[in-house]
Amino acid sequence: MPTVLIMDHPLLKHKISLLRDENTGTRDFRVLVEEIAMLMGYEALRDLPTEEVEVKSPVSTSMQPMLSGRKLAVVPILRAGLGMVGGILALVPSAKVGHIGLYRDEVTHQPHDYFCKLPENIDERLVILPDPMLATGGSAIAAVDFIKAKGCKNIKFMCIIAAPEGLEALKAAHPDIDIYVGSLDEKLNDSAYIIPGLGDAGDRIFGTK
Ligand code: PRP
Ligand code: URA
Repeated sequence: MPTVLIMDHPLLKHKISLLRDENTGTRDFRVLVEEIAMLMGYEALRDLPTEEVEVKSPVSTSMQPMLSGRKLAVVPILRAGLGMVGGILALVPSAKVGHIGLYRDEVTHQPHDYFCKLPENIDERLVILPDPMLATGGSAIAAVDFIKAKGCKNIKFMCIIAAPEGLEALKAAHPDIDIYVGSLDEKLNDSAYIIPGLGDAGDRIFGTK
């Protein structure tokens, strides 16, 4: 059964509240996004398989669990997903990194793709797809469509804030993927921004606008 998990940890809630604050500047915003991604990644990677490996300590030799050689790829949805990559790589430093470039049309709110570069053998990897915001769901659905078309079957989507509309749309379009949400917010406004949300994640991470 795929996992759909709305996180419920006080540390995460605290950091997401700081992220929402309009007085949080670019530098702190970036640090918080990375820390939140690491906390979320810790939970999202709970089911990574391990295997017993012989380990010799200074006093004895025993069989101990180590991560088994499952291949991982982190594929952020540009731009804002980039801000989450460092936090996930802190947990799994040997993961390969791909990129999917999508932007949302300001009027139609439909996603447009402009870049894609994926690691080799992407179809054999567990793909972690981070994007801080799941609003209408259009960008996440398009990104999952894209990597599924490359043969990927094992996909975990991670977002810091989701609107109910986007979460329902993503679950309906891709019922087979795992979804991890830091906070499920109230609704979308008329411009398809998440309420209360945090504004434009890309602009806040990169200091644009
Ligand atoms: C934001 C965000 C998501 C998308 C969510 O990106 O990072 O990718 O919007 O909206 P949706 O669920 O309605 O598709 P944006 O298009 O603003 O691009 P950016 O990251 O380059 O700023
Ligand atoms: N993209 C964002 O960055 N923020 C929103 O609230 C919605 C889409």
